[in-house]
Amino acid sequence: MTDKTSNQMWGGRFAAGPDAIMEAINASIGYDQRMAAQDIAGSRAHAAMLAATGVITDSDAEAIRKGLLTVLSEIEGGAFEFSTALEDIHMNVEARLKEVIGEPAGRLHTGRSRNDQVATDFKLWVRDQLDAAESGLLALIRALLAQAEAGAEWVMPGFTHLQTAQPVTWGHHMMAYVEMFGRDLSRVRDARARMNESPLGAAALAGTSFPIDRHMTAEALGFDRPAANSLDAVSDRDFALEFLSTASICAMHLSRFAEELVIWSSAQFRFVTLSDRFSTGSSIMPQKKNPDAAELIRAKVGRIYGANTALMMVMKGLPLAYSKDMQEDKEQVFDAADNWMLALAAMEGMVKDMTANRDSLAAAAGSGFSTATDLADWLVRVLGLPFRDAHHVTGSLVAMAESKGCDLPDLTLADMQSVHGDITDDVFGVLGVDNSVNSRMSYGGTAPAQVRAQIERWKATLS
Ligand code: ARG
Repeated sequence: MTDKTSNQMWGGRFAAGPDAIMEAINASIGYDQRMAAQDIAGSRAHAAMLAATGVITDSDAEAIRKGLLTVLSEIEGGAFEFSTALEDIHMNVEARLKEVIGEPAGRLHTGRSRNDQVATDFKLWVRDQLDAAESGLLALIRALLAQAEAGAEWVMPGFTHLQTAQPVTWGHHMMAYVEMFGRDLSRVRDARARMNESPLGAAALAGTSFPIDRHMTAEALGFDRPAANSLDAVSDRDFALEFLSTASICAMHLSRFAEELVIWSSAQFRFVTLSDRFSTGSSIMPQKKNPDAAELIRAKVGRIYGANTALMMVMKGLPLAYSKDMQEDKEQVFDAADNWMLALAAMEGMVKDMTANRDSLAAAAGSGFSTATDLADWLVRVLGLPFRDAHHVTGSLVAMAESKGCDLPDLTLADMQSVHGDITDDVFGVLGVDNSVNSRMSYGGTAPAQVRAQIERWKATLS
C-alpha cells in the first residue's frame, strides 16, 4: 500500500521516508522513553474506556491490556529495542503492541491523538516528580528541625550585609530555612492540585466524534477531572512551567543555604563541620576537606533556572493548539527534575550529618559589637534617651572599643561614663549575648523560647 520506507504509523500519504537529518531532528525517543510507564498507563485507561463505551470490543480491549503489559515488562527488563524511525515513545509502544497482539493494536488509537497522549503522559510524569519533590522537601525539613531542636539556644552571630548584626540562635537560623522550604512544599502542593486535570480524549485538538468517556479515563489515571477545553488541553504546558518555576525558587533556597555552608565550613568561620560522607579531599593539598556537595548544590540552580527560561521561550508566541516546538519541553524538565531531586537529597544528607561547632558560634556571636543594639535599647529603656541619641552614644562607645581593640563588654564603667555620665553598672547585663537573644521574645524572634514554639508548631503540622 505505502512505500516500505515511509513511516508505518503515519506514512500513508508519503511516497518516501524522511531524510536522515529529518529523522534526527524529529525523533524524541532518545529521551521520551522515560515516559514509557506513563504512556502505557494512559493507553490502558484509554482502551478500557473504549470497551466500556462500546467503541471497541471487550476482547480487543483485553488483548490490548495484556499486550501492553508485555510491552511494559519488555521495557522494564531492558529488552525493548527503541527505534528512531518510530520517532517517539507513543509510536514505539504502539508498533511493538502490533507485533505482539496483531490487529487489535490498530484500534487503540481510536478517539485519541498523540497530542492528547503526550500531554497526558508528560503530566503524569511531572505529577510523579512533584510527589518526589514533596517527599524530598519533607525529609529536608525534618533534618533541619532536628538541627534546630538540638541547638535552639546556641548563640551565633546574625548577619546583614554579611557583617555581624545581632546575636541570634542556631535554632532560629535553621528554622528560617524550614520556613523557606515550607513555602516550597506549599508551592509543590498547589502546583500538583492545579495541574491535576486530564488532557486525554482532547484528541488532536477538537475532541472526537466517538462516544468516549473522559471522566472515566481521568478517574482511572488519578486526575480530579478532564480538562474542560480540548484546544487548551493539548497546548497547555503550564504544568511543566509551574514545575520548573517551583523548582527554580526551591533551588534558589538550596543555593543560598549551600553558600552559607561553604562559608561556615571554612577555616575562617568554623561554624560547622561537614561529615566526611559529604566532603571531598584535594589531590595535591593533603589538609583539604572541601564542601563539594554544597558547591554543586549552589551551582545546580543555574541549570534549573536555565530549563525554566528555555521552556518559557519555547512556549511564548505559539499559536493554539499543538506545535512540534512543544516536544522541546521534555529534556528541560527531565534534567531539572533529576537535579532538583539530587540537590534535595544531598542537602538533606549534609544537614543530617553536619555538626554545629557550638564554641565557635558562641565566640563569633560576641565579637563584632553584636550587642550594640542592646546597649542602645538599654539607654532608651533605662535612661529615657530618644533612640536617635542612644544610637549616637552607642556609636561613640563602639568607636572607643574599636580603638582600644576590645569588645563592648570589655569597656570599663568609667569608659562608658566618659561618653554618657548617667550610665550605670546595670548596663553590663545587656551586653552578654545570651541575655541579648533571650530578650528577643517578640513573635518570630530569636529567643530560644520563641524558636522552640516554632519547632513545636512545625512538628504538629508535619505529624
Ligand atoms: N513526540 C511528540 C512530542 O513530544 C508527540 C506528539 C506528536 N504530535 C504530532 N502531532 N506530531 O510532542
